[in-house]
Amino acid sequence: MVRMKGILLAGGRGTRLLPATLAVSKQLLPVNDKPLIYFPLSVLMLAGIRDILLITTPEDLPQIRRLLGDGSRLGLRLDYAEQAEPNGIAEALVIGADHIGGDPVALILGDNVFHGYSFQERLRQECDAVDGCVLFGYPVRDPHRYGIAETDAGGRLLSIEEKPRTPRANRAIVGLYLYDPDVVDIVKNITPSARGELEITDVNRAYLERGRARVVDLGRGFAWLDAGTPESLLQASQYVQLLEQRQGVRIACLEEIALRMGYIDAEACHRLGVELEKSTYGQYVISVAEQFMNR
Ligand code: G1P
Repeated sequence: MVRMKGILLAGGRGTRLLPATLAVSKQLLPVNDKPLIYFPLSVLMLAGIRDILLITTPEDLPQIRRLLGDGSRLGLRLDYAEQAEPNGIAEALVIGADHIGGDPVALILGDNVFHGYSFQERLRQECDAVDGCVLFGYPVRDPHRYGIAETDAGGRLLSIEEKPRTPRANRAIVGLYLYDPDVVDIVKNITPSARGELEITDVNRAYLERGRARVVDLGRGFAWLDAGTPESLLQASQYVQLLEQRQGVRIACLEEIALRMGYIDAEACHRLGVELEKSTYGQYVISVAEQFMNR
């Protein structure tokens, strides 16, 4: 187990998905066979992080808690905190300061979907050795929509810009950020942007100015999807559906990950599957547990 805390930010009003998000949190909408929030949570679990703070709006908190509870069923410790207003991603680090304590932290956004070969190994490598701040870069066609990282030929980080009108590079900074414990002090000195938000890009830039920020490329063969619009939500569903259908495995199946990571045993996993057995997801959880029992 890594000595690292997790923060999952499932805030915001999901305005680009209205009316689907009028009564339901964006992070609870389905991506093929499971709620969107399973995807970022699975990333933290695969990184070996078990102590996780979920930050969400006061309206959405009861539903998210109803879905995930205190995490003990998955061998996790989940705590909850509110972000009352959409005051920016970096506010999660202020709200989560006590949770972070003196440990390194992985902050992940609730609508980011990651999938790719050997992602877990790379993630664990980075989590084991966080010094300063580690960002992940991904080539995109529409860089003006994202935080953008410019590097030199050797991959050294040169600049970070939030949603630049004229981007200097097409490498988006994805919604997964690793920080050393200094982040708690760094975020205290960030001033809100013109929009009144604490920008995560300003935190990352503060690390860059200290020469303590790195960017790790996720590369072309990797899938990074953000599910913030009807189109991208559908695309994420289609991607997940295609792979799950073709390979017969499930992406971001929390019960399976908890089992494979040794957070729960096969009997516990089986019980969780039985609770969901009317669905093909539940049947999959049962079959994974049975495979483990028969090994
Ligand atoms: C946020 C960040 C941006 C990052 C993106 C990743 O943007 O501000 O730097 O590239 O998440 O999903 P938002 O999606 O909140 O507009």
